[in-house]
Amino acid sequence: MNESTIKIRLMKADDFDAVVGIDQKVLKASRTEYYEMKFERLFKSKEYLPTSLVAEEEDGTVVGFIMGELYMGEFGIFQQQATLDTIGVDPSSRLKGIGAQLINEFMAHLRSLGVQKVNTLVDSKDSKLTHFFTANQFSPSETINLERSL
Ligand SMILES: CC(C)(COP(=O)(O)OP(=O)(O)OC[C@H]1O[C@@H](n2cnc3c(N)ncnc32)[C@H](O)[C@@H]1OP(=O)(O)O)[C@@H](O)C(=O)NCCC(=O)NCCS
Repeated sequence: MNESTIKIRLMKADDFDAVVGIDQKVLKASRTEYYEMKFERLFKSKEYLPTSLVAEEEDGTVVGFIMGELYMGEFGIFQQQATLDTIGVDPSSRLKGIGAQLINEFMAHLRSLGVQKVNTLVDSKDSKLTHFFTANQFSPSETINLERSL
């Protein structure tokens, strides 16, 4: 499948099964509850603007997705920063530029809404994913992610 035949569109509530299915192939574990919470926020809350996208083939098969959040707050004023939470491309459709296409459309969409910066968290030991984000113009932020074990 050539990149040019892939269409990127806003995610719909109906995409739930496709998104959970791809995520399951990526992580080799099911995160249905996590996505139920994400979709609830995406499609039922008025405090978040829709920013999540899917990549679909000509026949409508969803082969990738990107999920982010743009919080508007109760006064309807959105932030100038948004988050990219999750990106996933079906293993059988990888290395064809679909991941880059999802990122580019995600950025263009957020830019058109007035967002100036997008943050994401990546495991520093995941060299493939770090390589992917660096190739797509992400760089380490000045904020350090701190943690404390309990
Ligand atoms: C990262 C990912 C979205 C890239 O999708 P894609 O459609 O193959 O992306 P592109 O074709 O635009 O870019 C391919 C690049 O991604 C890199 N890459 C990153 N993670 C990869 C993975 N798990 N498998 C294969 N390639 C990967 C490749 O090395 C390649 O780099 P190159 O072009 O220099 O060779 C996809 O590999 C994926 O879904 N990985 C798992 C993501 C994940 O762990 N998500 C959960 C946390 S956010």
